[in-house]
Amino acid sequence: MKKKVFLLALSSSVFAVSLLTSCHRVNKDSSGVEYMPDMYRSPSYEDNSFNPNFADSMTDRVPVKGTVPVGFTPDPFPNTPDGWANASKYWKDPFEATPEIVAEGKATYEVYCIHCHGPKGMGDGKVADKLPGPPPPYSGPALRNITEGEMFQTLEYGKGLMGSHAGQLTIAQRCKIIRYVQTLQKLGQPADTGAKATQPVAAAAK
Ligand code: HEC
Repeated sequence: MKKKVFLLALSSSVFAVSLLTSCHRVNKDSSGVEYMPDMYRSPSYEDNSFNPNFADSMTDRVPVKGTVPVGFTPDPFPNTPDGWANASKYWKDPFEATPEIVAEGKATYEVYCIHCHGPKGMGDGKVADKLPGPPPPYSGPALRNITEGEMFQTLEYGKGLMGSHAGQLTIAQRCKIIRYVQTLQKLGQPADTGAKATQPVAAAAK
């Protein structure tokens, strides 16, 4: 019995002492006694840190040439006059223009394109008048007949004042946007059926 009491007293005083030492701080920025410093201070180099192992002393390395993200498919049509001509002729949108696909394209358009091209693609987005020249309307003479391939090239590489959207949108997102833009190309056109065609574009687009 005496032995048990002694052990109890001993263990509680060890506990009390360790509590006190762990709370005692030499300075307020110190985390106190480190029992397993390796676990606090990892030997690995942090991102953006100095690294004496490389000639340029940077930890972050540039990916090996030719590295591509998972799921990446290179555009088979290069950014050359021939590439654009071939894309215009041969590039086909893999998505059918079903109401669901067009609706998905519209939702993405309203995030990535609307501020320049406007809600109905009339080139009257909120920032359009800040550009040196606003985008032409999709349904106007300049763009109403451009092919889906030309649109894809525009989204891949950019054109004139419009930058590439390849880094912001997946290929599938771009293909669905194209299906939506095609509906905007038809706005106000005679093929946009009967009575509607005679109404002002904004009304017909509703
Ligand atoms: C920063 C403003 C801006 C944004 C954002 C933008 N565009 Fe454009 N876009 C333009 C301008 C300006 C032009 C006219 C380019 C030219 O011909 O110089 C243009 C042209 C186009 C053309 C016609 C290309 C051709 O072959 O003449 C298409 C199609 C197009 N944009 C689609 C889109 C789609 C789809 C999006 C969204 C993913 C988008 N744009 C986002 C400004 C923008």
